[in-house]
Parts: sequence; structure tokens; C-alpha cells
Amino acid sequence: MGMFVGAANPEEYAEIYDMVCKAFKQSKLENAIVKVTTTEDTNFRKGDLRIVKVDGKIVSMMMLIRRPLRIGTTIVNGAIVAPVATHPDYQRKGYCSAVMRNAIQYMKTQGFDITILWGNPWLYPHYGYSPAMMKTEIVIKPKQRGSSEKRSYEFRSFTKADLEQITQIYHSNTAARTCAEIRSARMWEWKPGGSEAKLEVLIDKKGKVIGYLALGTDWGRPCAHEIGVLNDEEACEVIFNYILEIAKSKSLKEFYCIVHPDHPFARFAFWHDGEIRIRSGSGAGMARLLNLVPLLTKMEKEFERRLHYSEFYDQECTLKILSEEGLAVLNINNGQVSVSADNVKSDYQLDIPLSCLNPLITGYKGISELVKNPNVKVRGGKLALRLINILFPTGFPYGGDIPLFWE
Ligand SMILES: CC(C)(COP(=O)(O)OP(=O)(O)OC[C@H]1O[C@@H](n2cnc3c(N)ncnc32)[C@H](O)[C@@H]1OP(=O)(O)O)[C@@H](O)C(=O)NCCC(=O)NCCS
Repeated sequence: MGMFVGAANPEEYAEIYDMVCKAFKQSKLENAIVKVTTTEDTNFRKGDLRIVKVDGKIVSMMMLIRRPLRIGTTIVNGAIVAPVATHPDYQRKGYCSAVMRNAIQYMKTQGFDITILWGNPWLYPHYGYSPAMMKTEIVIKPKQRGSSEKRSYEFRSFTKADLEQITQIYHSNTAARTCAEIRSARMWEWKPGGSEAKLEVLIDKKGKVIGYLALGTDWGRPCAHEIGVLNDEEACEVIFNYILEIAKSKSLKEFYCIVHPDHPFARFAFWHDGEIRIRSGSGAGMARLLNLVPLLTKMEKEFERRLHYSEFYDQECTLKILSEEGLAVLNINNGQVSVSADNVKSDYQLDIPLSCLNPLITGYKGISELVKNPNVKVRGGKLALRLINILFPTGFPYGGDIPLFWE
């Protein structure tokens, strides 16, 4: 029978659920992700769950979750990969590589622009991924003092009727964050927290949802997986005080909130002695571009926005970007940008391996850091460097949160 690599058939899903449980041992989360995505996610297509079969037995799998992702203010076609697993009896034989390399081709032909994931840093660079997203957290310590009690607000458990409101809050909090996923107001998008987790909403006197909080644990530490606030200070304050109470009641020295530095809650916590931590070194948030020209073409308006605030706003020039994923030329003309795939002579040129292009596009690394890599070559001197800096500014990319299930 030999080896098969490709799309799984629905009648094979039960065997896949079972294999995922075996690979992840104690954790039920990954199995839940596969079950909910294959049965509830209306965007799911048959080829999105891919397997390796050896002599009729499923030995390895990967799944992608279809979600639009933000790159600055651009929305692109994203594929979040989760989970990836090889049967414990068949590991270290190349099956994960077989399924992942096959999946990269599939994602390209499906017209995805970029794929992201949170995973082992030693594994995914084999398939073209690079560290490209930061893990940031806000640390609140019980010795911090909450301000005056706001009795006109209360927390209650989330219900389905809150979906529209929490989705709106989520989007208002992530509107310009690179790699943040666009969610819809559907249950399968909104199951944060893991089996022990609780999603609570904060409501005002009129019953309007003005914030939400997903409480659970992250690597055994009590944490808030996600916080959402309408951009008003009171929602931040009530949630902040609530977290202080939880931390005190559990005698915790620190309480972690997985929140982005540009989030309104992060700002509030910062001004109330919260600590913003960016965990360096782990490199576990990864991205891989899939279709260079379509991705950059979608970013044209975003490039124009970036140029608008620079000395290049009224210039005419061309920048060629060359990598093993092909070439793209950015034609800049008096504040307008168009992208083409024609290999024409250009004013400036950037030769860059995929491993460096991924973090450049997400803003995880800037050109001044990347150019230290001998394989990154910038032609056109200081002006070229400056232009690349403007087109690809650094930021705090974070996203690709896979749904964490409470059911
Ligand atoms: C992680 C996991 C999916 C790897 O599956 P696998 O089938 O054993 O992996 P492969 O044999 O295909 O090896 C994958 C690649 O990593 C390399 N590799 C394997 N083990 C390695 C190790 N210990 N250190 C460094 N590289 C290693 C291989 O050479 C291969 O790369 P290549 O194809 O470029 O040569 C599997 O161990 C697993 O299911 N673990 C439990 C679940 C899990 O952790 N999933 C991933 C979550 S991010």
C-alpha cells in the first residue's frame, strides 16, 4: 500500500482525533480544536486537514484554520496551523516533514497569503517559517492598589447572546495589530480558555457589554488568556481591580494577562504600575509568507499610508525584492504604490532569504537588524535602507490565537 500524503477523508476523522490525543498525551485542547474546526467551522474545507498514511494507518497530521489576518491595516488570507502531530510510535521518521511540506504547497495553491502558528522553534523553520510574532504579557501584582470600587458594573458568565458585542470589542482592540486574526460572531471562533477556563463579560447598568475576560492557566500559571475592553477607562479599571482581587484571594505574587502592549488595558495597567513583559528568546510565534506578489499587492494602500508620513511621499522610485519565493517590484510614484512581478531594472534592490523576509513583513525585525545577515543585500545605499525602513516598520506583531475551548 505504501505511503500517502494529502487530504484526509471525513471517514478518517475519528482515527485522526484518536491519534492527536495519543500525540499530545494529557492535553485535550488540540483534539478539541480539530473536532470543532472539522464539525463547526463553516470556512473549513476538506483539504485543510492533511495526513500521512503508511500501509493504511494514519501516522501524521496537520490542520489549518482559515482566518483573515491583519498586516497593519491590510487584511490578507491567513492560514493558522494548529495542531501538528505524529503518532508516538512513528516519530522521527520524517512524517511530520512530509505532511508539512505537502501542506505548504496546498496553502499556496489555495491562495493563502501568509501562514502563522505558535509552535516548537526547532521544527517549523524546516518548512520556511521564522520567528515573527512576540509573546507579550502584562503582569499585575497584588501589592498594587486598585482604585475606588465601581459598583455600577458587574461580571457575569458569557452567553451566546454576547457574541456580537464581544466580537466588536475584540476588533476595536486589535484594529491595526499585525497578525491579529479577524473573528466572526460565531461560537466556534469564541471558545477561549481551555477546559478549566471561564469567559466572563463585564456589563454596565444598562446591561451593555463593555468588556470581557477569559480566565484560565498558561503553562500552569493562572492567567487571563484574553481581555477585551471598550475603549473607556472604566472598563479597564473594573477589570484591573477584579484581577487584583483574584490574585489576592489566591495569594499569587503575580497575575499574568496575555495582552498586547498597544491594547487599552495594557496602557491602563502600565500607568497603574503593571509591568509589560515581552518574552524574548522563545521565538515561538512564527510566520511564513506563501504568495509574495499577491500579499504585497494587497498591501499597496498600507504602503501608501506608510510612505505618506515620510520624505518619500512625493518621490518616484522602484524597489525590487528578491527571495527564494520569487520577486516583486514596488513602483512608487508620488505617494502611489503598485506592485508587479516584472523583472525590470530598479532603483533599489533587496535580496533577502525567506527566513528574513517573514519577520520583515510582520514588523518583528527591521531592515537595520536583518542587514547584519550576510545573505541580506541592499542595493542603493542609505536611501534604499531608509525606504525599506519606511515600507516595513517594526512593531509588535501578535496574533493567530487558536481557539481554546471551554466545552
Ligand atoms: C513534533 C512532532 C510533530 C514531530 O513529528 P515527527 O514526525 O517526529 O517529525 P519528523 O521526523 O518529520 O522531523 C521533523 C523535522 O525535524 C527534524 N528533527 C526531528 N527531531 C529533531 C530534534 N529532536 N531536534 C532537531 N530537529 C529534529 C527532522 O530532521 C525533520 O526535518 P527535515 O525534514 O528537514 O530533515 C511530533 O514529535 C509530535 O507529534 N509531538 C507531539 C505533539 C507536538 O508537540 N506537536 C507539535 C506542536 S508545535
